[in-house]
Amino acid sequence: MHGNLRQNADLLDRIKAGVASIGCDVAVCAPFPYLGQLQASLAGTSIAWGAQSVCEYSEGAFTGEVSAAMLADFGCRYVLVGHSERRGLYGETDAVVAAKFKAAQMAGLVPILCVGETLVERQSGNTASVVARQLSAVLEACGIDAIARAVVAYEPVWAIGTGVTASPEQAQEVHAAIRRQLSERDVAVASGVSVLYGGSVKPQNAVELFAQPDIDGGLIGGAALVADDFLAICQAAS
Ligand code: PGA
Repeated sequence: MHGNLRQNADLLDRIKAGVASIGCDVAVCAPFPYLGQLQASLAGTSIAWGAQSVCEYSEGAFTGEVSAAMLADFGCRYVLVGHSERRGLYGETDAVVAAKFKAAQMAGLVPILCVGETLVERQSGNTASVVARQLSAVLEACGIDAIARAVVAYEPVWAIGTGVTASPEQAQEVHAAIRRQLSERDVAVASGVSVLYGGSVKPQNAVELFAQPDIDGGLIGGAALVADDFLAICQAAS
């Protein structure tokens, strides 16, 4: 929940200008009121765009919610589901996240499924089981084929917005486990799906993180608010 029309316009202009010479896939996910701004600003560019949440229901009396069909209606491609702030601050359970994932795909959107453990869960040795449980909820509800039409993001909660990044080895370990879990159902889907790392990615740590064999890119929060930092991270990904 950052930005306003003027700041966004400036940020988008800088990102558009910088990304043109960088060979990596880039998408921007903004709060709902600014999706129209993304649509107008990014039309005709290589930058895709998306929303940060979506309602799990397709239509009806859900005042204040935004459906996947509404997002798709004006060209939105991606939507985050299960970001840790949605899980933690707004009580989104694994079941709700799975329902949102399904609703997004039914409208033709590409969900970016966020999974990750809290600090307490990591310290008590439960990282693997928490991430596996979060992934299983979607696999049970939507099946492995649905993962082929999605993006997965590993975001350790303790690393988001804290300045503390998972070490490349810590991140790689979880990314490999995610791929192992998927490969139990389908090897091709497991190796083909993009698994992004998120949590205090910065220009200073991006190269090392993205060099890990199972890290395909990043989900960038704070550093995306500074065009030069975001572009440096894109450069690292390319
Ligand atoms: P951060 O945020 O890069 O500021 O840690 C990541 C996120 O919110 O997904």
